[in-house]
Amino acid sequence: MEDMDSRLVRELFDFRKTIRTATFFMDRLLDCLESPVPVSGIRKNPSYPCNPWLNSEPREAGRLRITRYIPAMLVDGKPYRTIWLSDSEPRLVQIIDQRKLPFAFKIADLRATDDAARAIVEMQVRGAGLIGATAAAGMYLAAIEATAETDFEAAIQKRAEFLCEQRPTAVNLRWAVERSLAAILECETNEEKVTAARAMAQTVADEDADFCRRIGQHGMELIREIHNRTGKPVNVLTHCNAGWLAFVDYGSATAPIYAAHDAGIPVHVWVDETRPRNQGARLTAWELGQHGVPHTVVADNVGGHLMQQGMVDLVITGTDRTTFTGDVANKIGTYLKALAADDNGIPFCVALPSSTFDWEIRDGVNGIPIEQRGGDEVTVMSGVPVDRSGPEQEFQIVAEGSPAANFAFDVTPSRLVSKLITERGICDASEDGVHGLFPEKFS
Ligand code: MRU
Repeated sequence: MEDMDSRLVRELFDFRKTIRTATFFMDRLLDCLESPVPVSGIRKNPSYPCNPWLNSEPREAGRLRITRYIPAMLVDGKPYRTIWLSDSEPRLVQIIDQRKLPFAFKIADLRATDDAARAIVEMQVRGAGLIGATAAAGMYLAAIEATAETDFEAAIQKRAEFLCEQRPTAVNLRWAVERSLAAILECETNEEKVTAARAMAQTVADEDADFCRRIGQHGMELIREIHNRTGKPVNVLTHCNAGWLAFVDYGSATAPIYAAHDAGIPVHVWVDETRPRNQGARLTAWELGQHGVPHTVVADNVGGHLMQQGMVDLVITGTDRTTFTGDVANKIGTYLKALAADDNGIPFCVALPSSTFDWEIRDGVNGIPIEQRGGDEVTVMSGVPVDRSGPEQEFQIVAEGSPAANFAFDVTPSRLVSKLITERGICDASEDGVHGLFPEKFS
């Protein structure tokens, strides 16, 4: 028989779910009533810093035009994307400068190819999807610059190569640059080329957000299934930041978590701090907190213990590049989590949009280039004073003279990956599994 406490907890969960559902529908209704006229199928709302709706599918209902839209992730209750093209200034791209988070929320301006390249290499933006979206925006700025040169094609090719050189592991970078280049080179006049580059920058961003939203819908079913089986809140462990900050919106690893949370499925996230740059502690924890998702930050080495003690139901990570055979490159330390998950019979899932697949490399361990970064990321840490009384400061944490090595990524072989969660659905981490969802890539 159910005891009083469990009944109360269950009833509270049910009540919270009812409130959430009612709030969701009221918000949707209010947004519909307030909606300005949709522009090109996408609803514009000038009070937001960027268009927070995507995948809009306008349909006629009598004389009332209703646009289906999806609210974006929130910062202090306001929807944001991580990158957007300014509506008011044609040569301006804006990004959230992630280096300052979680202690300061700053927007940075990109007005030239060099700015986009710097944003990528200095990690104002990071994460596979967002690196791709920034590269596409960089190509738009590059196209504008190339119109001032005598040989447009040579100028754009040079800038495309320059953008690709900025970071080696995330495959979305070259994918976005090549996609943009192809669209630009199809056009006749310089004006058409710039227009095509801008349209492609927008498409890459919209597609990234939409694919992540779909990943959320598919991945949520894994969380729901665990909850239905156990009747308890689902504990998900994640590594690094594969949240909306690493993409344009929603995130890859976090999308199923946000979707589950929004659907009233109780979920709690163990957030690996993710040394050396602490993307888990600084970014993932911040964005989960902004969305109200229960979470706990743990030191990187805690995961194995949590798994042994039955405190993890599911691991979901993102990836910077995944081979078509299912080998997964992700933030350093991911491989160790996969080994621990395997030893404890816990599903280890990887969420990715198709733009993160490498369709050429078969053997990820030997084929995927692993970025090595400066040792100072290991020897120096930064943060604000405990009482928050001052700005962020840096601290040396290693004895003087000790050299440090800094491998930014590792590769988890497909045999340790339970499932891949993509925009088209969930598949085995194998060539056959990936082929089943993306047959056109194999022809
Ligand atoms: O070096 P970073 O911060 O760009 O690291 C990339 C990542 O954010 C992670 O590896 C992430 O988990 C996968 S990319 C969505």
